[in-house]
Amino acid sequence: MITVKKMQDEILRLKKEKDICILAHAYQSHDIWEVADFVGDSYGLSLKAAESHAETVLMCGVRFMAETVKILSPDKRVLLSNPQADCPMAQQMGPDQIRKLKEENPGFAVAAYINTTAALKTVCDVCVTSSSAVTIIRNMKQKDILFVPDCRLGAWVASRVPEKNLKLVKGGCPVHACISPDDVRTARALHPNALLLVHPECLPEVSALADYAGSTTGIMDFAKKSDCKEFIIGTENSIVSHLQFACPDKQFYELSKNCICHDMKLTTLANVYQCVCGNGGEEILLPDDVMTEARRCLDTMIELGG
Ligand code: 13P
Ligand code: SF4
Repeated sequence: MITVKKMQDEILRLKKEKDICILAHAYQSHDIWEVADFVGDSYGLSLKAAESHAETVLMCGVRFMAETVKILSPDKRVLLSNPQADCPMAQQMGPDQIRKLKEENPGFAVAAYINTTAALKTVCDVCVTSSSAVTIIRNMKQKDILFVPDCRLGAWVASRVPEKNLKLVKGGCPVHACISPDDVRTARALHPNALLLVHPECLPEVSALADYAGSTTGIMDFAKKSDCKEFIIGTENSIVSHLQFACPDKQFYELSKNCICHDMKLTTLANVYQCVCGNGGEEILLPDDVMTEARRCLDTMIELGG
């Protein structure tokens, strides 16, 4: 049997030998973080994808993240470490629904959360991520904007950019939706000195009770820089253990024990090992027209997101 350490050493050796860049979303496990070239939120991963010079990019995350890498780096070989890992929110809407919404709302621009399929991005004007959405919506020239598919992130953005007319479409993350205002009351009662940090995919009534709302990277940066010693974390629970590891002198508590993204959990270190050995993962291949049209949406995101 191979140990975790031996497997990590082999991954590090093989990725160098084969010119593979490993990108990992923040929700991935610690043993994957340790072999990754970059760990971050969806926006950070997109920027890294656009600038990487490696021949192959291995995405440890969910399918839309690997598609994003392929669209931004069309000449690279892009692998999704575990082909089963998909974001349920990305399956909530397809291009036909967007076409219908556009017909019903003439003159509206369409901003799509990056947690969508490549096909959906082809019929939208711009992509946003949780860390870039406020800036991008503010920088858009249009006032009337359809925000799809996460109505909770959309509501959070709308409250920060009141000069825009955001029309929200029903949809969102089923994982963050499991957190209720009652969870906040319970956690605050148990940890009265802790700050509450949440992801804006949470229900608006939960985000409204938070001391800070932001992307996964935003939450981690806030906790690391803060003088406070205790934090209740309202996002996927892997962030609680990552923060506890990064800041052993502070205390981190789960806002809800149910906030677990099973899709993000699908990728294992063994998957990464198999991929760098050449016998695992799925190569992401997209039709040329999808690549071109979805790229327009992602390029606009990077242009307006700064
Ligand atoms: P971030 O961009 O904040 O990492 O969010 C991605 C995601 O899927 C959160 O659930
Ligand atoms: Fe998708 Fe929610 Fe999982 Fe993020 S946490 S990947 S939005 S299901």
